[in-house]
Amino acid sequence: MNPDNKALSRRAFLVHCALWGGWASLGFALIHWLRVPNYQPSARIVELERPENYPLGVTPLPLYQAWLVRSSKGFFALRAVCTHLGCPPHWVPEQSQFVCPCHNSRFDHEGALQQGPALRALERFEIYTAASGRLALNLDQTYRRENGGWKMPRAFVSWPV
Ligand code: FES
Repeated sequence: MNPDNKALSRRAFLVHCALWGGWASLGFALIHWLRVPNYQPSARIVELERPENYPLGVTPLPLYQAWLVRSSKGFFALRAVCTHLGCPPHWVPEQSQFVCPCHNSRFDHEGALQQGPALRALERFEIYTAASGRLALNLDQTYRRENGGWKMPRAFVSWPV
């Protein structure tokens, strides 16, 4: 083997490393530049209106990606994020279902899974009555039905008390 070929081969290897390293750096920089920042509301505990101000049924709370649901027994708040891949489902009152536009998962009016591909129910936000008498949501705390979370004391507000 010619020693010049070996030196050339080493040089070619180093050039390839430099080129691939440069492309990788550019790729990471581009991904970082294009990344959409996550929306983080500054107040993660939000006060809503007083319970008597909400009608029976589903009230959308788009600012918090939530629905407030009032039944004859009280209130709970569903997180408006599909448990399949995170699309925002729509409330379809005629069907009394939340329907995901991405892959057609369906959830009943309580958020229970009716049809996949999602594998679990919608999550519920922590909800309680604040000292002011208004309903309050903790957007940092959600409860899952599958592990009994919907039965937690703050997954539901009884009303009238
Ligand atoms: S993201 Fe909702 S069904 Fe796929």
